[in-house]
Amino acid sequence: MPHHTDDLLTVPPDCKVVILGTGGTIAGRSVGADDPVAYVAGQVAVRDLVAGVPALAQWPLALEQVAQVDSKDMGLPVWQRLVRAVELHMAQPSIAGIVITHGTDTLEETAYLLQRVLQPAKPVVLTCAMRPATALVPDGPQNLLDAVVVAADAQARGVLAVCAGQIHRAEHVAKVHSYRLDAFSSGDAGPAGCVEAGQVRWFQPLALPEAPDTRLLAAFLAAPALPKVPLLTSHADADGDLVRALLTLAPEGLLVAGTGNGTLHDNLVAALLEAQHAGVRVVRASRCAQGRAMPDDRNPFPVAAPLNAPKARLALALDLLAERSGR
Ligand code: SIN
Repeated sequence: MPHHTDDLLTVPPDCKVVILGTGGTIAGRSVGADDPVAYVAGQVAVRDLVAGVPALAQWPLALEQVAQVDSKDMGLPVWQRLVRAVELHMAQPSIAGIVITHGTDTLEETAYLLQRVLQPAKPVVLTCAMRPATALVPDGPQNLLDAVVVAADAQARGVLAVCAGQIHRAEHVAKVHSYRLDAFSSGDAGPAGCVEAGQVRWFQPLALPEAPDTRLLAAFLAAPALPKVPLLTSHADADGDLVRALLTLAPEGLLVAGTGNGTLHDNLVAALLEAQHAGVRVVRASRCAQGRAMPDDRNPFPVAAPLNAPKARLALALDLLAERSGR
């Protein structure tokens, strides 16, 4: 439901939103405003991003620079800092919601991680940009403003992503285009809602949060490294050499993005069976940009929950971590 008000962008009373900066193209800087490719991500401080959006001047905001990275380089240390920061701020009664500025490239993995380990009851809204902050017409300022509006919305909860006016849920969001401003899709599920001129319009109700898995959270925050789970793809002319080479690195799991419905080249199946017999957890997903791998009893390897391959890889690593920590 939209806020019923004549004033666009009216701040809900007592609403404080925290904005956590992690880098990305939204904080990118290029030498020339006319070059949308040759820029360095993660350069502009979150306070300067907020200062660049005049409409945010009226919002009660708190800002924290958690990291300043190109999200292709995202990894456990930044994730642990981010999870700690979100947990800390969420626990404050005065905080209505949290916005995270993030690179587009691994945004869906961070979104899945935050949902899985925190199950937040308050909204945690990731936002991003496809053009650097120094572009002639940057998309980051509008995305940031929209994300703050969503984070303050009374119906918002759980981990969401806001980009190009659309609101996506953590489990569905995926980057599906390398260049377009609306680079994200929720696939068959469709977006959860949209932001139009400062008003939120929900298309679907958001699920109630599940009880947080406090043991998984503690194990995640204490882990020196996540369980080693390489991501492989099945393809024409595949052989098993890569799998056999990987076995020398002692992986705990292997996530295989199969063709179509998660089907695998026979040569790969032979090598993966060797891995499975050696105690490695092998799980399948689909390499297709949309749709999912369906369970098939005839296949020796189970399918992941309906997640795309990068999220399924992370899900398997978290499953193994949870098992390792004695659940
Ligand atoms: C990144 O993911 O940090 C760089 C690319 C982007 O944000 O679009």
